[in-house]
Amino acid sequence: MSLKEKYKDYFLIGAAVNTHTIQTHKDLILREFNSITCENEMKYGEVTNDGVTYDFADADKIVAFAKDNGLAMRMHTLLWHNQSPPPIFKNTDRDRLLQVFRGHVNRMAQRYGKLVYACGVANEVIDDKGSEYFRKSPWLSIIGDDFVDVAFEYAKEAMPNVTLCYNDYNESEPEKSLKIAKLVRDMKNKGIPIDCVGLQAHWNIVSPSVDEIKRAFELYAGLGVKLHITELDVSLFAFEDRSVLKEPSLELIKRQADFYREVFAIFRQYRDIVESITTWGVADDESWLSNFPVPNRKNWPLLFDDNHQSKPCYEAIMDF
Ligand code: G3I
Repeated sequence: MSLKEKYKDYFLIGAAVNTHTIQTHKDLILREFNSITCENEMKYGEVTNDGVTYDFADADKIVAFAKDNGLAMRMHTLLWHNQSPPPIFKNTDRDRLLQVFRGHVNRMAQRYGKLVYACGVANEVIDDKGSEYFRKSPWLSIIGDDFVDVAFEYAKEAMPNVTLCYNDYNESEPEKSLKIAKLVRDMKNKGIPIDCVGLQAHWNIVSPSVDEIKRAFELYAGLGVKLHITELDVSLFAFEDRSVLKEPSLELIKRQADFYREVFAIFRQYRDIVESITTWGVADDESWLSNFPVPNRKNWPLLFDDNHQSKPCYEAIMDF
């Protein structure tokens, strides 16, 4: 039995893919997953360099793959401080930037809005530091404090039937989760059309603790929104750990399996509101973590190994 079959009554099982992995990992994707996200190809700065001329070739390839194979798709992402085309922030003001951004949202919606079930509208706008609320960015400084609200209004207008999510990382960290919850609560109180919180879930075997993750789920579940796990991976290294490994020890592989088992138990517990679980990549041979936070350091964060074989963490989440 595959992952998507095992979880068919619970949630969609997704993977982030790119134009390379839809070829190299095709069999595995089609066997195990029923949802995909473009790892980069739908980001603002990837579809346009200057904010005027668009090139949808890579995103189109992935969308065609989804259509041909009956996979559901998430859109990632409309407003982000990274990978946006720098010229849109030059010599501009609030009204001009809003106009340009609304044009972008409409273009993305026109091309992909009918094909996606969910969209990460705003990404990582909350600051990690306790003393700050919003992260500093040109979006915030040029548009002002309502930049996220406006993004959701534009997205709703352009994609009325798509689940609209706010997406962030360190989403289980106690202080940051309170700020994310405040953002969502305030938006709902103002009548802003937010449907969902996307929990990136870039976790490692040390942190966050399973208790922290449970508390974050309780908090988000109380907001009356859907939850999507959008970028799940479980690094074998604590974030500050800069050591390098040739091979992971059996002990680490077991700890990773235990971690996956426990967090999937939480996901199942919240099945009424959790709609999708997406891993950030397909197999360990191609993961962003093999370059972050240490360039060229091999990591093994996913459910399938370098040869696309299932790992103990896969067996752990299939065993319930
Ligand atoms: O496309 C260029 C290529 O032309 C160039 O030769 C090459 C040389 O560095 O770079 C290529 O761009 C890279 C891009 O991925 C496409 O592969 C960038 O350097 C690289 O920085 C970029 O990394 C992506 C990262 O977002 C950028 O912020 C990762 O693949 C992607 O996995 C990662 O995903 C993010 C989510 O979107 C949001 N949450 C965090 C997550 C991890 O950072």
